[in-house]
Amino acid sequence: MIQVCFVCLGNICRSPTAHGVMEHLVRERGVGDLIAVGSAGTGGWHVGARPDRRAQETALRRGFALPGVAEHFMAADFARYDHVLAMDRSNLESLRSLARTREERAKVQLFRAYDPEATPDDDEVPDPYYGGPEGFELVFDMCERTCAALLAELLRGRHSRS
Ligand code: 4NP
Repeated sequence: MIQVCFVCLGNICRSPTAHGVMEHLVRERGVGDLIAVGSAGTGGWHVGARPDRRAQETALRRGFALPGVAEHFMAADFARYDHVLAMDRSNLESLRSLARTREERAKVQLFRAYDPEATPDDDEVPDPYYGGPEGFELVFDMCERTCAALLAELLRGRHSRS
């Protein structure tokens, strides 16, 4: 089983969107026995809260549901996950400082490292929290194409090892 965790700041906008999209794709591909998905925030202010209403509405309009309630990513969580994917560089740095071993650090990457449309100047998922609805649409688009590429990569890696 490959365990993947998406991490943003609050775990109410970006990472729950990636979480919901990835679970949907995993279910659609029938690979739920191979890949498990989680999400968390590097900040703990929203722990226990459902995803932001705007993120939920954006997802629902496109036929996706956002799962769960916000969690705070802790150092102990590195043991639960194989891939810990940060939505932006600030979260990437927070996760790297939380990692206690080289093995844990190696699990941390930028989420959009898997986005086929990312460039060196555009490789983060921008925080939509203080902006308008178009920010949530942009986040969803990024999550949809990046999760599709990530899933293909994980399945490819798994097949080549077996
Ligand atoms: P997220 O968005 O990191 O994508 O969940 C945010 C949610 C809440 C806050 C910042 C970003 N906040 O400052 O409360």
